[in-house]
Amino acid sequence: MRLEGLLFLAAACIAFSTGGFNAEDVVTRDVCILGGGATGTYAAVQLREKGHSVALVEKKDRLGGHAETLYLPSDKYVNYGVEGYFNNDITKNFFSQLNVDYEALLPGSIIIENVNFNTGKRVLPGNELLGTIAGAILYRTAIEQFNYLSTGAYYLPDKVPEALLRPFHEFVEEHALQGAMGVIFMFAENVGDILNAPLLYVIQNFGITHIDALLGGGYIRPKNGTDQLFNKAANYIAEENIFYETTVSQAKRNSTGVEMIVKNADGTRKLIRAKKLLITFPPTASSLTGFDLRPEESTLFSKWNHKSYYAAAITNTGLPDGINVANTNPDNQPGSLPLPPFQWQMEYSGVPGYFMSKIVADGNFTAEDAKELIRSDLKRMGKTGVYRTKEPEIAAFASHSPETLIVSTDDVRNGFYKKLYALQGQQSTFYTGYTFCTDYSTPLWNYTSSVLDMMDL
Ligand SMILES: Cc1cc2nc3c(=O)[nH]c(=O)nc-3n(C[C@H](O)[C@H](O)[C@H](O)COP(=O)(O)OP(=O)(O)OC[C@H]3O[C@@H](n4cnc5c(N)ncnc54)[C@H](O)[C@@H]3O)c2cc1C
Ligand SMILES: *[C@@H]1O[C@H](CO)[C@@H](O)[C@H](O)[C@H]1NC(C)=O
Ligand SMILES: *[C@@H]1O[C@H](CO)[C@@H](O)[C@H](O)[C@H]1NC(C)=O
Ligand SMILES: *[C@@H]1O[C@H](CO)[C@@H](O)[C@H](O)[C@H]1NC(C)=O
Ligand SMILES: *[C@@H]1O[C@H](CO)[C@@H](O)[C@H](O)[C@H]1NC(C)=O
Repeated sequence: MRLEGLLFLAAACIAFSTGGFNAEDVVTRDVCILGGGATGTYAAVQLREKGHSVALVEKKDRLGGHAETLYLPSDKYVNYGVEGYFNNDITKNFFSQLNVDYEALLPGSIIIENVNFNTGKRVLPGNELLGTIAGAILYRTAIEQFNYLSTGAYYLPDKVPEALLRPFHEFVEEHALQGAMGVIFMFAENVGDILNAPLLYVIQNFGITHIDALLGGGYIRPKNGTDQLFNKAANYIAEENIFYETTVSQAKRNSTGVEMIVKNADGTRKLIRAKKLLITFPPTASSLTGFDLRPEESTLFSKWNHKSYYAAAITNTGLPDGINVANTNPDNQPGSLPLPPFQWQMEYSGVPGYFMSKIVADGNFTAEDAKELIRSDLKRMGKTGVYRTKEPEIAAFASHSPETLIVSTDDVRNGFYKKLYALQGQQSTFYTGYTFCTDYSTPLWNYTSSVLDMMDL
Protein backbone atom coordinates (compact mmCIF):
# COMPACT_ATOMS: atom_id res chain seq x y z
CA MET A 1 0.00 0.00 0.00
CA ARG A 2 2.91 2.31 0.82
CA LEU A 3 4.39 1.77 -2.60
CA GLU A 4 1.08 2.44 -4.29
CA GLY A 5 0.79 5.70 -2.36
CA LEU A 6 4.15 6.75 -3.74
CA LEU A 7 3.12 5.81 -7.26
CA PHE A 8 0.04 7.98 -7.00
CA LEU A 9 2.16 10.84 -5.78
CA ALA A 10 4.60 10.38 -8.64
CA ALA A 11 1.79 10.31 -11.19
CA ALA A 12 0.29 13.49 -9.77
CA CYS A 13 3.62 15.27 -10.11
CA ILE A 14 4.05 14.59 -13.83
CA ALA A 15 3.21 17.80 -15.63
CA PHE A 16 -0.08 17.65 -17.47
CA SER A 17 0.26 19.45 -20.76
CA THR A 18 -2.70 19.97 -23.03
CA GLY A 19 -0.55 21.75 -25.59
CA GLY A 20 0.70 20.04 -28.72
CA PHE A 21 -2.64 18.56 -29.78
CA ASN A 22 -3.97 19.37 -33.23
CA ALA A 23 -7.60 20.43 -33.36
CA GLU A 24 -8.62 17.04 -34.81
CA ASP A 25 -7.03 15.30 -31.82
CA VAL A 26 -9.05 17.24 -29.28
CA VAL A 27 -12.34 15.53 -28.48
CA THR A 28 -14.97 17.55 -26.62
CA ARG A 29 -18.01 15.78 -25.22
CA ASP A 30 -20.59 16.07 -22.45
CA VAL A 31 -19.54 12.79 -20.85
CA CYS A 32 -16.44 10.63 -21.15
CA ILE A 33 -17.08 6.99 -20.23
CA LEU A 34 -14.19 4.69 -19.35
CA GLY A 35 -14.84 1.01 -20.12
CA GLY A 36 -17.21 -0.38 -22.75
CA GLY A 37 -18.56 -3.43 -20.93
CA ALA A 38 -22.17 -3.86 -19.84
CA THR A 39 -22.39 -0.64 -17.84
CA GLY A 40 -20.28 1.67 -20.00
CA THR A 41 -22.13 0.63 -23.14
CA TYR A 42 -25.51 1.03 -21.44
CA ALA A 43 -24.55 4.49 -20.16
CA ALA A 44 -23.41 5.59 -23.62
CA VAL A 45 -26.68 4.47 -25.21
CA GLN A 46 -28.84 6.18 -22.56
CA LEU A 47 -26.88 9.42 -22.74
CA ARG A 48 -27.09 9.49 -26.55
CA GLU A 49 -30.80 8.76 -26.35
CA LYS A 50 -31.20 11.86 -24.16
CA GLY A 51 -29.22 13.93 -26.65
CA HIS A 52 -25.92 14.16 -24.77
CA SER A 53 -22.59 13.65 -26.50
CA VAL A 54 -20.24 10.92 -25.31
CA ALA A 55 -16.72 9.58 -25.73
CA LEU A 56 -16.43 5.89 -24.83
CA VAL A 57 -12.89 4.71 -24.09
CA GLU A 58 -12.33 0.95 -24.19
CA LYS A 59 -9.08 -0.95 -23.67
CA LYS A 60 -10.00 -3.82 -25.99
CA ASP A 61 -10.94 -3.79 -29.68
CA ARG A 62 -14.58 -4.61 -28.91
CA LEU A 63 -17.44 -3.64 -26.62
CA GLY A 64 -19.02 -6.14 -24.22
CA GLY A 65 -16.48 -6.69 -21.44
CA HIS A 66 -17.52 -9.88 -19.68
CA ALA A 67 -19.98 -10.74 -22.47
CA GLU A 68 -18.20 -12.81 -25.14
CA THR A 69 -19.49 -15.03 -27.91
CA LEU A 70 -17.75 -17.70 -29.96
CA TYR A 71 -19.42 -17.99 -33.38
CA LEU A 72 -19.26 -21.39 -35.04
CA PRO A 73 -20.22 -22.54 -38.53
CA SER A 74 -23.92 -23.04 -39.38
CA ASP A 75 -25.15 -20.13 -37.23
CA LYS A 76 -24.33 -21.78 -33.92
CA TYR A 77 -22.65 -19.92 -31.11
CA VAL A 78 -21.45 -20.28 -27.54
CA ASN A 79 -21.79 -17.40 -25.05
CA TYR A 80 -18.82 -18.36 -22.97
CA GLY A 81 -18.97 -15.24 -20.76
CA VAL A 82 -22.30 -13.64 -19.83
CA GLU A 83 -25.09 -16.03 -20.84
CA GLY A 84 -28.32 -14.29 -20.00
CA TYR A 85 -30.08 -11.25 -18.63
CA PHE A 86 -32.96 -10.95 -16.18
CA ASN A 87 -36.28 -11.18 -17.99
CA ASN A 88 -37.66 -7.85 -16.77
CA ASP A 89 -38.48 -4.37 -18.08
CA ILE A 90 -34.98 -3.01 -17.51
CA THR A 91 -33.50 -5.60 -19.89
CA LYS A 92 -36.37 -5.59 -22.35
CA ASN A 93 -36.39 -1.80 -22.66
CA PHE A 94 -32.66 -1.83 -23.44
CA PHE A 95 -33.06 -4.62 -26.02
CA SER A 96 -35.93 -2.82 -27.71
CA GLN A 97 -34.01 0.48 -27.78
CA LEU A 98 -31.41 -1.36 -29.87
CA ASN A 99 -33.81 -3.60 -31.81
CA VAL A 100 -32.27 -6.75 -30.40
CA ASP A 101 -34.36 -9.89 -30.87
CA TYR A 102 -34.32 -12.08 -27.80
CA GLU A 103 -35.38 -15.50 -26.61
CA ALA A 104 -35.65 -17.35 -23.31
CA LEU A 105 -32.33 -18.65 -22.01
CA LEU A 106 -32.66 -22.37 -21.45
CA PRO A 107 -29.88 -24.48 -20.00
CA GLY A 108 -27.88 -26.52 -22.50
CA SER A 109 -28.69 -29.51 -20.33
CA ILE A 110 -30.21 -30.17 -16.93
CA ILE A 111 -28.40 -33.44 -16.37
CA ILE A 112 -25.73 -33.05 -13.72
CA GLU A 113 -23.09 -35.65 -13.00
CA ASN A 114 -20.93 -35.21 -9.93
CA VAL A 115 -17.19 -35.72 -10.04
CA ASN A 116 -14.55 -34.68 -7.53
CA PHE A 117 -12.17 -32.84 -9.89
CA ASN A 118 -9.36 -33.25 -7.33
CA THR A 119 -9.48 -37.04 -7.65
CA GLY A 120 -11.27 -37.55 -10.96
CA LYS A 121 -13.71 -39.89 -9.23
CA ARG A 122 -17.46 -39.94 -9.42
CA VAL A 123 -19.07 -38.90 -6.10
CA LEU A 124 -22.55 -38.41 -4.67
CA PRO A 125 -24.17 -35.03 -5.17
CA GLY A 126 -23.91 -32.44 -2.39
CA ASN A 127 -26.89 -32.00 -0.11
CA GLU A 128 -28.97 -30.09 -2.65
CA LEU A 129 -32.03 -31.82 -1.29
CA LEU A 130 -34.18 -28.79 -1.96
CA GLY A 131 -33.64 -28.17 -5.63
CA THR A 132 -33.24 -24.74 -7.19
CA ILE A 133 -36.63 -23.16 -6.52
CA ALA A 134 -37.16 -24.34 -2.94
CA GLY A 135 -33.53 -23.57 -2.07
CA ALA A 136 -33.82 -20.05 -3.49
CA ILE A 137 -37.03 -19.39 -1.55
CA LEU A 138 -35.52 -20.61 1.72
CA TYR A 139 -32.42 -18.47 1.22
CA ARG A 140 -34.51 -15.44 0.21
CA THR A 141 -36.51 -15.69 3.44
CA ALA A 142 -33.29 -15.78 5.47
CA ILE A 143 -31.76 -12.69 3.78
CA GLU A 144 -34.95 -10.60 3.62
CA GLN A 145 -33.89 -8.89 6.86
CA PHE A 146 -31.15 -7.16 4.83
CA ASN A 147 -33.63 -5.62 2.41
CA TYR A 148 -31.54 -2.43 2.06
CA LEU A 149 -29.30 -4.56 -0.18
CA SER A 150 -32.21 -5.63 -2.36
CA THR A 151 -31.35 -3.58 -5.49
CA GLY A 152 -27.81 -4.93 -5.44
CA ALA A 153 -26.08 -1.67 -4.40
CA TYR A 154 -24.02 -1.63 -1.18
CA TYR A 155 -26.48 0.64 0.61
CA LEU A 156 -25.47 -0.42 4.11
CA PRO A 157 -26.65 1.17 7.33
CA ASP A 158 -24.07 3.33 9.17
CA LYS A 159 -23.66 0.63 11.75
CA VAL A 160 -23.13 -2.44 9.60
CA PRO A 161 -24.79 -5.48 11.24
CA GLU A 162 -22.12 -7.87 12.47
CA ALA A 163 -24.12 -10.74 10.99
CA LEU A 164 -23.19 -9.50 7.51
CA LEU A 165 -19.51 -9.64 8.36
CA ARG A 166 -19.41 -13.12 9.84
CA PRO A 167 -18.48 -16.15 7.70
CA PHE A 168 -21.33 -17.43 5.60
CA HIS A 169 -21.19 -20.95 7.15
CA GLU A 170 -22.49 -19.50 10.44
CA PHE A 171 -25.53 -18.05 8.67
CA VAL A 172 -26.05 -21.37 6.86
CA GLU A 173 -26.12 -23.23 10.18
CA GLU A 174 -28.32 -20.66 11.91
CA HIS A 175 -30.93 -20.69 9.13
CA ALA A 176 -30.52 -24.34 8.13
CA LEU A 177 -29.61 -23.43 4.56
CA GLN A 178 -27.61 -26.62 3.90
CA GLY A 179 -30.09 -27.71 1.26
CA ALA A 180 -29.78 -24.38 -0.56
CA MET A 181 -26.00 -24.50 -1.02
CA GLY A 182 -26.30 -25.80 -4.59
CA VAL A 183 -28.39 -22.90 -5.88
CA ILE A 184 -26.42 -20.29 -3.93
CA PHE A 185 -23.11 -21.57 -5.27
CA MET A 186 -24.51 -21.76 -8.80
CA PHE A 187 -24.71 -17.95 -8.81
CA ALA A 188 -22.08 -16.91 -6.25
CA GLU A 189 -19.30 -19.28 -7.32
CA ASN A 190 -17.12 -16.27 -8.16
CA VAL A 191 -16.81 -15.61 -4.40
CA GLY A 192 -14.60 -18.72 -4.23
CA ASP A 193 -14.62 -20.29 -0.75
CA ILE A 194 -18.15 -19.06 -0.02
CA LEU A 195 -18.48 -20.81 3.35
CA ASN A 196 -15.68 -18.69 4.78
CA ALA A 197 -16.58 -15.47 2.95
CA PRO A 198 -18.50 -12.75 4.82
CA LEU A 199 -22.27 -13.12 4.37
CA LEU A 200 -22.30 -9.63 2.79
CA TYR A 201 -20.36 -10.79 -0.24
CA VAL A 202 -22.48 -13.89 -0.76
CA ILE A 203 -25.63 -11.73 -0.74
CA GLN A 204 -24.00 -9.16 -3.03
CA ASN A 205 -23.32 -11.87 -5.58
CA PHE A 206 -26.65 -13.64 -5.23
CA GLY A 207 -29.21 -11.44 -3.53
CA ILE A 208 -32.88 -10.56 -3.55
CA THR A 209 -32.98 -8.84 -6.96
CA HIS A 210 -31.45 -11.93 -8.53
CA ILE A 211 -33.63 -14.44 -6.67
CA ASP A 212 -36.73 -12.53 -7.73
CA ALA A 213 -35.59 -12.69 -11.35
CA LEU A 214 -34.86 -16.40 -11.01
CA LEU A 215 -38.26 -17.12 -9.45
CA GLY A 216 -40.06 -14.64 -11.70
CA GLY A 217 -39.36 -14.27 -15.40
CA GLY A 218 -36.10 -16.19 -15.61
CA TYR A 219 -33.49 -15.08 -18.13
CA ILE A 220 -33.43 -13.94 -21.74
CA ARG A 221 -30.64 -13.62 -24.25
CA PRO A 222 -30.14 -11.98 -27.64
CA LYS A 223 -31.12 -14.48 -30.34
CA ASN A 224 -27.75 -14.37 -32.05
CA GLY A 225 -25.35 -14.24 -29.11
CA THR A 226 -24.53 -11.59 -26.50
CA ASP A 227 -22.13 -10.06 -29.04
CA GLN A 228 -25.16 -9.01 -31.05
CA LEU A 229 -26.31 -6.71 -28.25
CA PHE A 230 -22.95 -4.98 -28.18
CA ASN A 231 -22.59 -4.80 -31.98
CA LYS A 232 -25.94 -3.05 -32.19
CA ALA A 233 -24.99 -0.78 -29.31
CA ALA A 234 -21.73 0.13 -31.06
CA ASN A 235 -23.71 1.17 -34.14
CA TYR A 236 -26.09 3.22 -32.02
CA ILE A 237 -23.26 4.98 -30.17
CA ALA A 238 -21.49 5.58 -33.54
CA GLU A 239 -17.89 4.92 -34.47
CA GLU A 240 -16.64 8.47 -33.99
CA ASN A 241 -17.57 8.31 -30.30
CA ILE A 242 -15.84 5.03 -29.46
CA PHE A 243 -12.11 4.87 -28.83
CA TYR A 244 -11.05 1.23 -29.00
CA GLU A 245 -7.72 -0.14 -27.77
CA THR A 246 -7.34 3.06 -25.83
CA THR A 247 -6.55 3.83 -22.20
CA VAL A 248 -6.09 6.99 -20.17
CA SER A 249 -2.48 7.97 -19.61
CA GLN A 250 -3.19 11.14 -17.67
CA ALA A 251 -6.31 12.66 -16.14
CA LYS A 252 -6.93 16.03 -14.56
CA ARG A 253 -10.28 16.67 -12.96
CA ASN A 254 -11.99 19.48 -11.10
CA SER A 255 -15.53 20.55 -10.25
CA THR A 256 -16.18 22.00 -13.72
CA GLY A 257 -14.91 19.15 -15.86
CA VAL A 258 -12.20 16.69 -16.81
CA GLU A 259 -9.30 16.65 -19.24
CA MET A 260 -7.67 13.40 -20.19
CA ILE A 261 -4.82 12.38 -22.40
CA VAL A 262 -5.65 8.99 -23.88
CA LYS A 263 -3.36 6.71 -25.80
CA ASN A 264 -4.23 4.18 -28.49
CA ALA A 265 -2.39 0.86 -28.83
CA ASP A 266 -0.74 2.28 -31.97
CA GLY A 267 0.78 5.06 -29.85
CA THR A 268 -1.40 7.97 -31.05
CA ARG A 269 -2.69 10.31 -28.39
CA LYS A 270 -5.80 12.40 -28.07
CA LEU A 271 -7.03 14.97 -25.61
CA ILE A 272 -10.55 14.36 -24.33
CA ARG A 273 -12.40 17.20 -22.60
CA ALA A 274 -15.71 16.43 -20.93
CA LYS A 275 -18.08 17.93 -18.40
CA LYS A 276 -18.40 14.60 -16.57
CA LEU A 277 -16.44 11.40 -16.29
CA LEU A 278 -17.96 7.96 -15.71
CA ILE A 279 -15.56 5.20 -14.60
CA THR A 280 -17.07 1.74 -15.12
CA PHE A 281 -14.21 -0.73 -14.56
CA PRO A 282 -13.02 -1.54 -11.03
CA PRO A 283 -11.24 1.57 -9.72
CA THR A 284 -7.99 0.10 -8.44
CA ALA A 285 -4.56 1.51 -7.86
CA SER A 286 -3.31 0.10 -11.17
CA SER A 287 -6.38 0.83 -13.33
CA LEU A 288 -6.20 4.52 -12.39
CA THR A 289 -2.48 5.08 -12.90
CA GLY A 290 -1.95 8.59 -14.24
CA PHE A 291 -5.04 10.01 -12.55
CA ASP A 292 -4.85 13.00 -10.24
CA LEU A 293 -6.19 10.96 -7.35
CA ARG A 294 -6.71 12.70 -4.04
CA PRO A 295 -5.51 10.97 -0.87
CA GLU A 296 -9.00 9.73 0.09
CA GLU A 297 -9.47 8.20 -3.37
CA SER A 298 -6.05 6.54 -3.31
CA THR A 299 -6.75 5.13 0.14
CA LEU A 300 -10.09 3.61 -0.84
CA PHE A 301 -8.89 2.28 -4.20
CA SER A 302 -5.92 0.46 -2.70
CA LYS A 303 -8.09 -1.62 -0.35
CA TRP A 304 -9.57 -4.09 -2.82
CA ASN A 305 -8.80 -7.80 -2.82
CA HIS A 306 -9.91 -9.72 -5.85
CA LYS A 307 -10.38 -13.14 -7.34
CA SER A 308 -8.87 -14.32 -10.59
CA TYR A 309 -11.54 -15.50 -12.97
CA TYR A 310 -11.29 -17.16 -16.38
CA ALA A 311 -13.86 -18.50 -18.80
CA ALA A 312 -13.38 -20.86 -21.71
CA ALA A 313 -15.22 -22.70 -24.44
CA ILE A 314 -13.66 -26.15 -24.81
CA THR A 315 -14.01 -28.83 -27.45
CA ASN A 316 -12.55 -32.28 -28.05
CA THR A 317 -12.99 -33.08 -24.35
CA GLY A 318 -14.22 -36.65 -24.76
CA LEU A 319 -17.11 -35.82 -22.42
CA PRO A 320 -20.49 -37.01 -23.68
CA ASP A 321 -22.72 -34.25 -25.06
CA GLY A 322 -25.71 -33.23 -22.99
CA ILE A 323 -24.29 -33.46 -19.48
CA ASN A 324 -22.89 -30.96 -17.01
CA VAL A 325 -20.05 -32.32 -14.94
CA ALA A 326 -20.17 -30.56 -11.57
CA ASN A 327 -17.02 -30.20 -9.49
CA THR A 328 -18.15 -31.80 -6.22
CA ASN A 329 -15.84 -31.97 -3.22
CA PRO A 330 -17.27 -34.16 -0.43
CA ASP A 331 -14.51 -32.92 1.93
CA ASN A 332 -15.98 -29.41 2.01
CA GLN A 333 -19.29 -29.39 3.88
CA PRO A 334 -22.03 -28.36 3.77
CA GLY A 335 -22.67 -28.43 0.05
CA SER A 336 -19.67 -30.44 -1.25
CA LEU A 337 -18.34 -27.27 -2.85
CA PRO A 338 -14.98 -27.05 -4.61
CA LEU A 339 -12.27 -24.82 -3.14
CA PRO A 340 -10.13 -22.34 -5.12
CA PRO A 341 -8.50 -22.76 -7.51
CA PHE A 342 -11.36 -24.64 -9.17
CA GLN A 343 -13.32 -25.17 -12.35
CA TRP A 344 -16.89 -24.76 -11.19
CA GLN A 345 -18.24 -27.26 -13.68
CA MET A 346 -17.83 -28.39 -17.25
CA GLU A 347 -21.13 -27.22 -18.62
CA TYR A 348 -22.62 -28.47 -21.87
CA SER A 349 -23.11 -25.45 -24.12
CA GLY A 350 -26.03 -26.79 -26.12
CA VAL A 351 -23.78 -26.98 -29.20
CA PRO A 352 -22.58 -30.54 -29.83
CA GLY A 353 -18.95 -30.98 -28.81
CA TYR A 354 -18.67 -27.72 -26.88
CA PHE A 355 -18.42 -27.29 -23.11
CA MET A 356 -17.99 -24.15 -21.07
CA SER A 357 -15.76 -23.74 -18.08
CA LYS A 358 -15.40 -21.04 -15.46
CA ILE A 359 -12.29 -20.99 -13.31
CA VAL A 360 -12.13 -19.22 -9.95
CA ALA A 361 -8.90 -18.70 -8.03
CA ASP A 362 -7.39 -16.49 -5.39
CA GLY A 363 -4.85 -13.80 -6.16
CA ASN A 364 -2.67 -14.08 -9.21
CA PHE A 365 -3.58 -17.38 -10.83
CA THR A 366 -2.48 -16.89 -14.43
CA ALA A 367 -4.23 -17.72 -17.70
CA GLU A 368 -1.69 -20.52 -18.22
CA ASP A 369 -2.47 -21.88 -14.74
CA ALA A 370 -6.17 -21.87 -15.64
CA LYS A 371 -5.65 -23.73 -18.94
CA GLU A 372 -3.46 -26.24 -17.17
CA LEU A 373 -6.21 -26.80 -14.59
CA ILE A 374 -8.70 -27.59 -17.38
CA ARG A 375 -6.31 -30.11 -18.92
CA SER A 376 -5.32 -31.76 -15.65
CA ASP A 377 -8.92 -32.03 -14.39
CA LEU A 378 -9.91 -33.82 -17.61
CA LYS A 379 -6.85 -36.03 -17.45
CA ARG A 380 -7.76 -37.16 -13.91
CA MET A 381 -11.28 -38.08 -15.05
CA GLY A 382 -9.75 -40.08 -17.88
CA LYS A 383 -7.34 -41.91 -15.58
CA THR A 384 -10.10 -43.07 -13.25
CA GLY A 385 -12.16 -44.10 -16.26
CA VAL A 386 -15.19 -41.99 -15.38
CA TYR A 387 -15.09 -40.56 -18.91
CA ARG A 388 -12.92 -41.35 -21.91
CA THR A 389 -11.44 -37.88 -21.93
CA LYS A 390 -9.07 -36.55 -24.56
CA GLU A 391 -6.54 -33.76 -24.83
CA PRO A 392 -8.98 -30.82 -25.03
CA GLU A 393 -8.85 -27.93 -27.44
CA ILE A 394 -9.50 -24.57 -25.86
CA ALA A 395 -11.57 -22.92 -28.58
CA ALA A 396 -12.01 -19.61 -26.81
CA PHE A 397 -10.57 -18.26 -23.59
CA ALA A 398 -10.95 -15.01 -21.69
CA SER A 399 -9.59 -13.45 -18.54
CA HIS A 400 -12.17 -11.69 -16.39
CA SER A 401 -9.76 -10.70 -13.65
CA PRO A 402 -9.92 -8.81 -11.41
CA GLU A 403 -13.27 -10.27 -10.33
CA THR A 404 -15.20 -10.24 -7.05
CA LEU A 405 -13.60 -7.18 -5.53
CA ILE A 406 -13.97 -7.27 -1.79
CA VAL A 407 -12.53 -5.36 1.15
CA SER A 408 -11.78 -6.58 4.67
CA THR A 409 -14.55 -6.82 7.24
CA ASP A 410 -12.78 -4.08 9.23
CA ASP A 411 -12.95 -1.78 6.25
CA VAL A 412 -16.67 -2.54 5.77
CA ARG A 413 -17.25 -1.91 9.49
CA ASN A 414 -15.38 1.40 9.21
CA GLY A 415 -17.69 2.68 6.50
CA PHE A 416 -15.81 1.75 3.32
CA TYR A 417 -18.94 1.68 1.17
CA LYS A 418 -20.31 4.93 2.59
CA LYS A 419 -16.99 6.59 1.75
CA LEU A 420 -16.94 4.95 -1.68
CA TYR A 421 -20.43 6.20 -2.60
CA ALA A 422 -19.54 9.65 -1.25
CA LEU A 423 -17.08 9.92 -4.16
CA GLN A 424 -19.97 10.04 -6.66
CA GLY A 425 -19.84 13.43 -8.37
CA GLN A 426 -16.66 14.68 -6.74
CA GLN A 427 -14.20 16.15 -9.24
CA SER A 428 -16.94 15.71 -11.88
CA THR A 429 -16.28 11.96 -11.59
CA PHE A 430 -18.94 9.25 -11.30
CA TYR A 431 -18.68 5.49 -10.95
CA THR A 432 -20.64 2.38 -11.85
CA GLY A 433 -19.84 -1.28 -12.54
CA TYR A 434 -19.46 -4.37 -10.41
CA THR A 435 -17.48 -2.77 -7.62
CA PHE A 436 -20.46 -0.49 -6.87
CA CYS A 437 -23.34 -2.91 -7.33
CA THR A 438 -24.04 -6.63 -7.60
CA ASP A 439 -22.21 -8.29 -10.49
CA TYR A 440 -25.15 -8.91 -12.82
CA SER A 441 -25.95 -6.90 -15.90
CA THR A 442 -29.59 -6.03 -15.30
CA PRO A 443 -29.25 -4.60 -11.76
CA LEU A 444 -26.02 -2.93 -12.90
CA TRP A 445 -27.98 -1.20 -15.69
CA ASN A 446 -30.54 -0.06 -13.14
CA TYR A 447 -27.80 1.26 -10.84
CA THR A 448 -26.13 2.96 -13.82
CA SER A 449 -29.41 4.79 -14.59
CA SER A 450 -29.43 6.19 -11.06
CA VAL A 451 -25.82 7.37 -11.48
CA LEU A 452 -26.67 9.08 -14.79
CA ASP A 453 -29.52 10.88 -12.99
CA MET A 454 -26.99 12.25 -10.49
CA MET A 455 -24.97 13.84 -13.30
CA ASP A 456 -27.28 16.78 -13.66
CA LEU A 457 -26.39 17.40 -17.32
C1 LIG B 1 -17.66 -15.50 -17.08
C2 LIG B 1 -18.73 -14.59 -16.57
C3 LIG B 1 -20.06 -14.89 -16.77
C4 LIG B 1 -21.06 -14.05 -16.35
N1 LIG B 1 -22.36 -14.35 -16.63
C5 LIG B 1 -23.33 -13.46 -16.37
C6 LIG B 1 -24.67 -13.69 -16.81
O1 LIG B 1 -24.98 -14.73 -17.41
N2 LIG B 1 -25.59 -12.74 -16.57
C7 LIG B 1 -25.26 -11.57 -15.95
O2 LIG B 1 -26.13 -10.71 -15.81
N3 LIG B 1 -24.02 -11.34 -15.50
C8 LIG B 1 -23.04 -12.24 -15.69
N4 LIG B 1 -21.75 -11.98 -15.28
C9 LIG B 1 -21.45 -10.76 -14.53
C10 LIG B 1 -20.90 -9.63 -15.41
O3 LIG B 1 -19.66 -9.26 -14.86
C11 LIG B 1 -21.82 -8.44 -15.41
O4 LIG B 1 -23.04 -8.86 -15.93
C12 LIG B 1 -21.37 -7.26 -16.30
O5 LIG B 1 -20.91 -7.73 -17.54
C13 LIG B 1 -20.36 -6.36 -15.66
O6 LIG B 1 -20.32 -5.18 -16.42
P1 LIG B 1 -19.31 -4.01 -16.09
O7 LIG B 1 -19.55 -2.93 -17.06
O8 LIG B 1 -19.37 -3.68 -14.65
O9 LIG B 1 -17.86 -4.67 -16.31
P2 LIG B 1 -17.19 -5.27 -17.62
O10 LIG B 1 -18.17 -5.97 -18.47
O11 LIG B 1 -16.00 -6.01 -17.15
O12 LIG B 1 -16.71 -3.98 -18.41
C14 LIG B 1 -15.56 -3.26 -18.08
C15 LIG B 1 -14.91 -2.81 -19.39
O13 LIG B 1 -13.83 -1.93 -19.09
C16 LIG B 1 -12.74 -2.24 -19.93
N5 LIG B 1 -11.54 -1.77 -19.26
C17 LIG B 1 -10.91 -2.32 -18.20
N6 LIG B 1 -9.87 -1.56 -17.84
C18 LIG B 1 -9.85 -0.51 -18.69
C19 LIG B 1 -9.01 0.64 -18.81
N7 LIG B 1 -7.98 0.84 -17.99
N8 LIG B 1 -9.29 1.53 -19.78
C20 LIG B 1 -10.34 1.34 -20.62
N9 LIG B 1 -11.15 0.27 -20.54
C21 LIG B 1 -10.91 -0.64 -19.59
C22 LIG B 1 -12.83 -3.74 -20.09
O14 LIG B 1 -12.13 -4.18 -21.23
C23 LIG B 1 -14.34 -3.96 -20.20
O15 LIG B 1 -14.78 -3.86 -21.53
C24 LIG B 1 -20.73 -12.85 -15.65
C25 LIG B 1 -19.38 -12.55 -15.40
C26 LIG B 1 -18.39 -13.40 -15.85
C27 LIG B 1 -16.96 -13.04 -15.58
C1 LIG C 1 -34.02 0.14 -9.79
O1 LIG C 1 -33.45 1.19 -9.01
C2 LIG C 1 -34.38 1.96 -8.27
C3 LIG C 1 -33.61 3.04 -7.54
O2 LIG C 1 -32.85 3.80 -8.43
C4 LIG C 1 -35.13 1.07 -7.31
O3 LIG C 1 -36.12 1.82 -6.64
C5 LIG C 1 -35.77 -0.09 -8.06
O4 LIG C 1 -36.34 -0.99 -7.13
C6 LIG C 1 -34.73 -0.84 -8.87
N1 LIG C 1 -35.34 -1.89 -9.66
C7 LIG C 1 -34.97 -3.15 -9.55
C8 LIG C 1 -35.71 -4.14 -10.37
O5 LIG C 1 -34.06 -3.49 -8.81
C1 LIG D 1 -24.95 -13.92 -36.05
O1 LIG D 1 -23.84 -13.07 -35.78
C2 LIG D 1 -22.65 -13.48 -36.45
C3 LIG D 1 -21.51 -12.61 -35.94
O2 LIG D 1 -21.83 -11.25 -35.95
C4 LIG D 1 -22.86 -13.37 -37.95
O3 LIG D 1 -21.69 -13.79 -38.62
C5 LIG D 1 -24.04 -14.25 -38.35
O4 LIG D 1 -24.33 -14.06 -39.70
C6 LIG D 1 -25.28 -13.89 -37.53
N1 LIG D 1 -26.34 -14.87 -37.81
C7 LIG D 1 -27.58 -14.49 -38.00
C8 LIG D 1 -28.56 -15.59 -38.23
O5 LIG D 1 -27.94 -13.32 -37.98
C1 LIG E 1 -10.97 23.37 -14.03
O1 LIG E 1 -9.94 23.07 -14.95
C2 LIG E 1 -10.07 23.80 -16.17
C3 LIG E 1 -9.04 23.28 -17.17
O2 LIG E 1 -7.86 22.94 -16.58
C4 LIG E 1 -9.91 25.29 -15.88
O3 LIG E 1 -10.03 26.02 -17.08
C5 LIG E 1 -11.00 25.68 -14.90
O4 LIG E 1 -10.84 27.04 -14.54
C6 LIG E 1 -10.95 24.83 -13.64
N1 LIG E 1 -12.10 25.14 -12.80
C7 LIG E 1 -12.01 25.29 -11.48
C8 LIG E 1 -13.27 25.58 -10.74
O5 LIG E 1 -10.93 25.18 -10.90
C1 LIG F 1 -0.52 -10.15 -7.37
O1 LIG F 1 0.58 -9.64 -8.11
C2 LIG F 1 0.89 -8.29 -7.83
C3 LIG F 1 1.95 -7.84 -8.82
O2 LIG F 1 2.90 -8.83 -9.05
C4 LIG F 1 1.30 -8.19 -6.36
O3 LIG F 1 1.58 -6.84 -6.05
C5 LIG F 1 0.18 -8.69 -5.47
O4 LIG F 1 0.57 -8.70 -4.13
C6 LIG F 1 -0.24 -10.11 -5.87
N1 LIG F 1 -1.44 -10.48 -5.14
C7 LIG F 1 -1.62 -11.68 -4.59
C8 LIG F 1 -2.90 -11.86 -3.86
O5 LIG F 1 -0.81 -12.58 -4.70
